[in-house]
Amino acid sequence: MGFFITLEGPEGSGKSTQAKMLVSYLEEKGYQCVLTREPGGTKIGETIREILLKHSPGPSIVTELFLYAAARRQHVDEIIRPALEADKIVICDRFADATVAYQGYGRDLDLEWIRQVNYLATDGLTPELTLLLDINPQAGMERALGGREPDRMEQEAISFHHRVREGYLELAQVESERIKIIKADRGKEEVHKDIRQYVDEALQR
Ligand SMILES: Nc1ncnc2c1ncn2[C@@H]1O[C@H](COP(=O)(O)OP(=O)(O)OP(=O)(O)O)[C@@H](O)[C@H]1O
Ligand SMILES: [Mg+2]
Repeated sequence: MGFFITLEGPEGSGKSTQAKMLVSYLEEKGYQCVLTREPGGTKIGETIREILLKHSPGPSIVTELFLYAAARRQHVDEIIRPALEADKIVICDRFADATVAYQGYGRDLDLEWIRQVNYLATDGLTPELTLLLDINPQAGMERALGGREPDRMEQEAISFHHRVREGYLELAQVESERIKIIKADRGKEEVHKDIRQYVDEALQR
């Protein structure tokens, strides 16, 4: 079996940037990697993503939960599990923890529901290592937008994004073995250096 790493954190915390840097680092060391993000290029997932981000009025909050879950399961079945079975390192830009943070803490849905829906969505697959890029939501949003228009999640009030951040931090406390908190309000190289340390350590286990 391969190795499954996820990157999590608020908008603009640097997940996509760090995911690419991590892949370059691991490929240079000779590992075969698959870099992915939901919906991971699956056709079904792309269609679901359109519904999630573009429709107005948007979905109700439970519909939103199911749509993310449906896209995730397709991504697991079509991309993630086959790559792990082919002994690759899968680096996924956001995964099930995002649903706990956004739908659970952000939207205040019952955390037990979320756990059950996530179980079905992931087929029970849990990352070996999760890198939580922690940043103040205001700072993250300024980075993320940089002049472009916000999408539906980004348009949420800043209080929503603060709840999301708190949700991530609480998850990291409960699952401290798996989830590593990394201060993301630093230079890209500094953040990358911490990530490398956690990944090297995890791959040696
Ligand atoms: N450490 C950093 N310092 C300053 N700017 C950064 C840093 N890391 C990333 N950026 C810049 O901030 C912006 C957002 O970064 P990135 O897209 O990697 O974040 P993200 O967490 O993937 O965001 P999103 O949640 O919107 O997908 C980009 O313009 C990126 O170049
Ligand atoms: Mg991104």
